[in-house]
Amino acid sequence: MADRPRRRRDIARVGQGGVARQSSATRGLVKRIEVVPSILSADLTRLGEQVREAAEGGADRIQVDVMDGHFVPNLTFGPAAVEAVRRVTELPIEAHLMVENPDLFIQSFARAGATIILVQVEATTLLYRTVRRIRDLNVKAGVAINPATSVETLREIVPYVDMVNVMTVEPGFGGQPFIAHSPDKIRRLREIAPDVEIEVDGGIDPETAPLVVAAGATVLVAGSAVFNARSTVAANLKAIRGAVG
Ligand code: DX5
Repeated sequence: MADRPRRRRDIARVGQGGVARQSSATRGLVKRIEVVPSILSADLTRLGEQVREAAEGGADRIQVDVMDGHFVPNLTFGPAAVEAVRRVTELPIEAHLMVENPDLFIQSFARAGATIILVQVEATTLLYRTVRRIRDLNVKAGVAINPATSVETLREIVPYVDMVNVMTVEPGFGGQPFIAHSPDKIRRLREIAPDVEIEVDGGIDPETAPLVVAAGATVLVAGSAVFNARSTVAANLKAIRGAVG
């Protein structure tokens, strides 16, 4: 049977709470802006508690940043971390694989309870096959691009994925400054992909969140703006959500 691109209606839905202020880039897409805390910035001595605080604070999903020390200069989590998060929440879990050769790890993250597996286009030579393999495991597939990678690289794969992730910092660490030209890049991606979920990741806070939503982003990953000593997880989530309407 031929592999069919994603059906158009897959991404259009109305969630409870606010509907994002529509920009020309998202007109026609009625969608609640989703906020996804990244546990990279969480207090790992009490990870379960932090995930529960995020869920109770209105998080829509939880992101687990997987780094192998090769694709990015940092080492973080494996499938065991996804399993641990899965044990404390029913929220969707994104496993963002910032690793070389992600095909080696897709099955173990699917088994661990990942709802969405994100792979980097720069790390995958046979991207179409990788995306197919993720979806064959009944897991949603997403592709991520680094700041210097053109949105054009996504044009052919967009019909086959559930989500695209635009890195708005160079991947590898939390707490980095937002890259200023990112809204422009998101706008250009929205032209290529009018109906796909666009996730942004890196330097997202109450100041940068409205910029990316106005450009067409519908999912916001935030690490250090959610998990910090300045305020509670719930208050930080409320501040981000309040900034995007
Ligand atoms: C960085 C990660 C991001 C990071 C975001 O490589 O992919 O998800 O945790 O952290 P902040 O929001 O602090 O930039």
